[in-house]
Amino acid sequence: MEAPLPLLLPFLLLLLLLLVASNTATAAGDGCNMGCDLALGSYYVTPNVNVSYIASLFGFSDYRELAKYNRGFPSLDYVAAGNRLDVPFTCKCLTLPSDRASTYLAASFPHKVDTGETYVSIASKYSNLTTADWLQATNTNTYPPNNIPANTILNVIVNCTCGDARISADYGLFRTFPVKDWQVLASISEFSPDQKALLTIYNPAIHSGTGSGIAYIPAKGT
Ligand SMILES: *[C@@H]1O[C@H](CO)[C@@H](O)[C@H](O)[C@H]1NC(C)=O
Ligand SMILES: *[C@@H]1O[C@H](CO)[C@@H](O)[C@H](O)[C@H]1NC(C)=O
Ligand SMILES: *[C@@H]1O[C@H](CO)[C@@H](O)[C@H](O)[C@H]1NC(C)=O
Repeated sequence: MEAPLPLLLPFLLLLLLLLVASNTATAAGDGCNMGCDLALGSYYVTPNVNVSYIASLFGFSDYRELAKYNRGFPSLDYVAAGNRLDVPFTCKCLTLPSDRASTYLAASFPHKVDTGETYVSIASKYSNLTTADWLQATNTNTYPPNNIPANTILNVIVNCTCGDARISADYGLFRTFPVKDWQVLASISEFSPDQKALLTIYNPAIHSGTGSGIAYIPAKGT
């Protein structure tokens, strides 16, 4: 005997919700099986940092290695606050500690925690290219947000994505942008309407307007 529709309705609604939820959560790199050699993180330079410090956060011992990705600056010895620096990294296909079957594209930067640092302050140190929630989701050991033991090595995970020829063959790679810079999307005049539509598909969070997380913007190689 068939179940009457009123009984089925809650299940249908739940199914619909699950579909919607999984759809909005799907980012460009989900379900990856390989990464790519190069992605860029867009780091917003604040008054208290210099390029040598920024480079060290991403594992560079010599900040001059960043020069060829930042040709707009006459010298990296002094980059004024308010500028954006491109930091290159390898975009890898990683797995989630809580679900080994879940893969996503990102880079992992080991970070030694200083006294008093929180997930929020660490995300901010990395220019909000990651978030406190994502730091907690991607580290096997989680600590109280305001009491991470000093000298703990956390993996700072910065999401990325690899080039997409559908957007443009000229743009071989993607730049990861903190979400507060969503407005950059509106200002990308160099992309055609079709390409802009694809960018929106690539960045589902644009619609959700959650105000956290990151966006992927195509970039040209060096
Ligand atoms: C850059 O910042 C680091 C850490 O804050 C500091 O130790 C270093 O002296 C600075 N370098 C320059 C050239 O200002
Ligand atoms: C990162 O985000 C936090 C919380 O939204 C904000 O207070 C902080 O200023 C941001 N840091 C940077 C470097 O943008
Ligand atoms: C990174 O990507 C994963 C998988 O798509 C997503 O769940 C997570 O929210 C993303 N993190 C950020 C900071 O956007």
